[in-house]
Amino acid sequence: MSFSALRAPVRRTAFSASFRRSELRSSSFRKFSTPPPAAKSNAALYAGLGVAAFGGIAFYLYTSSSDTSKEAATALKSGAQAAKVAANFTPTKEDYQKVYNRIAEIIDEAGEYDDGSFGPVILRLAWHASGTYDKSTGTGGSNYATMRFEPESLHGANAGLSVARGLMEKVKQEFSWISYGDLWTLGGVAAVQEMAGPKIPWRAGRIDGFAEHATPDGRLPDASQGAPHIRDIFYRMGFNDQEIVALCGAHALGRCHSNRSGYEGPWTFSPTTFTNDFYKLLFEEKWVWKKWSGPKQLEDKTTKSLMMLPTDYVLTQDKSFKKYAKAYADDNDLFFKDFSAAFATLMELGVPTQQFVSSEPWTLKTLDEQKA
Ligand code: HEM
Repeated sequence: MSFSALRAPVRRTAFSASFRRSELRSSSFRKFSTPPPAAKSNAALYAGLGVAAFGGIAFYLYTSSSDTSKEAATALKSGAQAAKVAANFTPTKEDYQKVYNRIAEIIDEAGEYDDGSFGPVILRLAWHASGTYDKSTGTGGSNYATMRFEPESLHGANAGLSVARGLMEKVKQEFSWISYGDLWTLGGVAAVQEMAGPKIPWRAGRIDGFAEHATPDGRLPDASQGAPHIRDIFYRMGFNDQEIVALCGAHALGRCHSNRSGYEGPWTFSPTTFTNDFYKLLFEEKWVWKKWSGPKQLEDKTTKSLMMLPTDYVLTQDKSFKKYAKAYADDNDLFFKDFSAAFATLMELGVPTQQFVSSEPWTLKTLDEQKA
C-alpha cells in the first residue's frame, strides 16, 4: 500500500472502529539499515558528511581568532551544517520551518491509517530516538539517529516505528541537507504542535552517526513493569519524578497496536489532540484488568474502549508520581508548560551543546499560525 493512495486529511476519534486498520506493513517502506562505513571517530563523521570538500575554508574558520569567524566555526561544528556548506547552502531558521511544514502536511496525509493522523507514531519515533540516552556514559540520545541501524531498528520497543522512519525518509529526500537526528526530533516537535499541544523550543545541530553508535536493547521502558523500573529508566536519562509524569502525558495521543507492542487500544477519546485527558481519565474512570489473552493491561469499566498500560496506572499508585499526575489532571496549563520543558530536554539528550547551530532554541510556527 502506498501513502499516496491515502491522501485525504481527516481527523477521527477512537470510537471510529471502522477506521482502525492493521499497521501498514513495514515491508512497503525502504529499509535504512545501512552498513557502517569504517569510520571510527567524529573526525571521520565530518569527513563522511562532506567536510573534506571544503576543508580549506573550514580550517580557516576554525583557526582564525576573530569573533565573527569563531561564530562561523561554531556553526560549522555541526556535521549537518558542514554538509550544507559543502553543498553551498547554509540553512536558516526559515529553512527548518520549511521542513517542519512538510512534516506537518505529512502528518495530515494519513487518510484511514489509525485515527487519521501520523502525528502519534512520528512523536513516538522522536521519543525512542532520544530516550536511549545514558547520562553516566554519555551514550545514546538523539544525536546520531542510530535507530536507522540494525539491531536497534529491530529492538522490540521499536516495533512499528518503521512507519514513522519511512515517512521521515520522504522528507529527507526533499531536504537532503538535514541530519536524521534533527529531522526526527523536529518531527516530534511538529507532531506535538500540530496536534494542538504546547510550543516546543527546538534547536538544530545533530549529526548522523554510524551503527557503532547504536545502543543496546533494554534502554527504553517496559510497559509491564512498576515504579522502580520507570525510575531506573528515566533517572538514567537525567529526569526527575515530575518530568517523568509530565512526559508520560504524551499517551493522550495515539494508541497501542497488538501487532507492534502486543497491547491494544487508545488511552483517550481524542487520540489526535494533545490534552491532559490522559491524567483526567486515570483518576475519573474506574480501571479494571482486561480479560483477554494479550499482555496485562487495564480497560475503563464504563466503555471498555480505552486502555492503560501497567506503567500508566502506576502513576496513580506511587505517592510521588500521583502528586504530579493529579496536578496535571487539575491544570492543563501546568501540564502544557511542564511537558514542553521536559520534552525539549528529551529531544536534546546526547547532543553536545557546542554542536547546536544557535545558542537560543527556536519556536517554529504551526501551519495554522502561518495561514493566519
Ligand atoms: C513508562 C514510559 C512509557 C512506556 C512503558 C511506554 C509504552 C508505550 C507502548 C507499549 C506503546 C504502544 C506502541 C504500539 O503498540 O504501537 C506506546 C505508544 C506511544 N507512546 Fe509511549 N511509553 C512510555 C512513555 C512515553 C513517552 C515519554 C512518550 C512521549 C513523550 C510516549 C509517546 C507515545 C506515543 C505518542 C504513542 C502512540 C504511538 C502510536 O499511536 O503509534 N510514550 N508507548
